[in-house]
Amino acid sequence: MKKMYPHIAPMKTAMKFKDYIESLNVQIPFDSDIWPAPGGPLAEPYVLKDGKRIGNRFCIQPMEGWDGTTDGRPTELVFRRWKNFGLSGAKLIWGGEATAVRPDGRANPNQLMILDQTMQDLEQLRQALVDEHQNHFGQVSDLLVGLQLTHSGRFCKPNEKTKLEPKILYHHPLLDKLFNIEQDYPVMTDAEIDDLIGYYIRAAKRAQSIGFEFVDVKHCHGYLGHEFLSAVTRPGIYGGSFENRTRFMREILKGIQSECPGLRIGVRFSTFDMPPFRPDEENVGHMVEYRDENGCYPFAFGGDPHVLGEILLDEPIQLMKMMEDIGVELVNLSAASPYYNPHLTRPAYYPPSDGYLPPEDPIVGVARQIQVAAVLKAAVPNLVTVGSGYSYLQEWIPNVAQAVVREKKIDFVGLGRSTLSYPELPADVLAGRPLVKNHFCRTFSDCTTAPRKGMVSGCYPLDDFYKKRPEADELKRIKKELKL
Ligand SMILES: Cc1cc2nc3c(=O)[nH]c(=O)nc-3n(C[C@H](O)[C@H](O)[C@H](O)COP(=O)(O)O)c2cc1C
Ligand code: SF4
Repeated sequence: MKKMYPHIAPMKTAMKFKDYIESLNVQIPFDSDIWPAPGGPLAEPYVLKDGKRIGNRFCIQPMEGWDGTTDGRPTELVFRRWKNFGLSGAKLIWGGEATAVRPDGRANPNQLMILDQTMQDLEQLRQALVDEHQNHFGQVSDLLVGLQLTHSGRFCKPNEKTKLEPKILYHHPLLDKLFNIEQDYPVMTDAEIDDLIGYYIRAAKRAQSIGFEFVDVKHCHGYLGHEFLSAVTRPGIYGGSFENRTRFMREILKGIQSECPGLRIGVRFSTFDMPPFRPDEENVGHMVEYRDENGCYPFAFGGDPHVLGEILLDEPIQLMKMMEDIGVELVNLSAASPYYNPHLTRPAYYPPSDGYLPPEDPIVGVARQIQVAAVLKAAVPNLVTVGSGYSYLQEWIPNVAQAVVREKKIDFVGLGRSTLSYPELPADVLAGRPLVKNHFCRTFSDCTTAPRKGMVSGCYPLDDFYKKRPEADELKRIKKELKL
């Protein structure tokens, strides 16, 4: 009999929610009362070293929509999403969405690209977000907007929505099998990597010239940057030792610093990872067992190679110290990969079409990300940190958000899926307005299932705009067929 977990919505009082957390034996900071702006912890500006103020402690996470043009420009749907980011009230906008540094690195044929020919469109996109923020909040000097730069590595689908055209750094014993990569499939050469570094630096220069105040050199979620961090079996200067596995990041960061003076730098990275999870006969996720000839699983950055599924933060701390030494200002702490262990990245009650039923109460996943981020923040306190994975908390987002910021476990609370269903949440919390119950993301995962099935992403269950789109019916049909 498969295990179901209690829903959040019926936990009507703070006491009930707190009791439930306690019964799970996990630690989640929680404030029973919320102090709205001004004076509340979430309304307190964060002042960067050079005096730049970020007006509050909410961050909008990068959320792509699989809905750009095939030549990498934003469509009306992208504009709508970015305007929603602007009206959210959050003062830190982390990247908008993954934007490829060149065509072959796209995760889907409709991913945005930052190229000479798309710059003007991306400039308008950023401006639309800023204008929307100005219109709603009357001030943008305390807003910080960055662009997330990406190459999708193992998960590139640049030409067809369902056809992987991977760029891999090493042969992974489990992921190769899962994603049908043959033994003799070529790995990227050192020369190809050297060449790609130049694309990141040129992309950063373009981003700066069109007004973005920082770029994120993305290293999370199984994409190329993240794969470098686990390239322990790769020979040569980009694999093996920590020094070599972080060379790609270092070269890009140093290149951006020398070519783009004044541009701030952020890195979003997966702070821990685990082996892939696969559905069992009841569709519940189980970790795939694998040990190499030394009895280890060495491919989980931030994982203990000797104990499958255990977190070990020595290398992530070393990485953050390295970033700090180089001059990175902001880090966004995410986890694992939505492609092979999605419950770790995005705790959810309902799985996406390529996922599985949660092997743990999703609250445990939220607590894990909060705890890991707190350990990292304590170890490297001068880096500005953004935490991830809060959307599953639903009604209790404000209580947990305020507590983690007040207790200095994190500097900014990042909101991903909840921004699709309820963009105004930060503004409502800060203004002390009653929250809109039926806008809370209930983690139905339609925003992932839709793109996995070749459709644009969006909150089909809760956002009226998407409810009315033809894809909504198609999605219902697919979910019924898949018994999701
Ligand atoms: C539809 C969708 C699109 C996403 N796009 C991106 C992206 O472009 N870049 C990125 O770093 N993370 C992306 N993520 C991950 C989110 O930023 C976030 O880490 C994750 O959803 C967990 O946070 P949440 O619980 O607030 O949703 C995406 C997630 C979803 C569901
Ligand atoms: S589709 Fe909407 S409710 Fe479902 S996970 Fe995405 S944002 Fe949340």
